[in-house]
Amino acid sequence: MPVPGSSPAKPFTAELGFASGSLTPHRATFVRRLSEMAGAYGDAAAARAILATGDDPVVYAGYDGDVPEEPGHLLFRTTIINPGTVGSEFFMTRGHHHVRDSAEFYLGMSGEGTMLMESRDGEFAAETLVPSAVVYVPPGWAHRTVNTGGTPLVFLAVYYGDAGHDYASVERSGFSRRVHRGEAGPEMRLAASGLGGAAG
Ligand SMILES: [Fe+2]
Repeated sequence: MPVPGSSPAKPFTAELGFASGSLTPHRATFVRRLSEMAGAYGDAAAARAILATGDDPVVYAGYDGDVPEEPGHLLFRTTIINPGTVGSEFFMTRGHHHVRDSAEFYLGMSGEGTMLMESRDGEFAAETLVPSAVVYVPPGWAHRTVNTGGTPLVFLAVYYGDAGHDYASVERSGFSRRVHRGEAGPEMRLAASGLGGAAG
């Protein structure tokens, strides 16, 4: 078993916890709280109201596999999105483009969610992410994952070592659709602005 933080020059095996999202060994962990991404939600007042209570909930967290961020490698990461909403909009990841347009695939491990994807010219797609589902993100498509269930959404993502993460393009203009808790279940609604069009 390799020492975490070292570049694996040799084959190795890592173990996934399908319910917990744990990854052993891992190079790093990450935690994203609401205060770091409050602007991602459509209802800014609802986000401020949560934070004003002194609560700063963990929206998502995860583990990075012990692989160097270098060309030729495949990075992999588990993510656990907690259940919850800001206003009626479900907890979700910030979403990003890759700096270098390159594909990624997701494996659903626990819980239920939706992946929002949008191409650089504004084409939109959504795919359901549930245990055993593999969702393919083509090169050039921004992607965001939304927890539409009442339990943590756990998934594995695999992407190129030199893909890089461009969060700024999504922060500027968001996705064209948002996923809300509706009376009869999750509802996809048009956002006020999206990645497509002049602002994209
Ligand atoms: Fe990605």
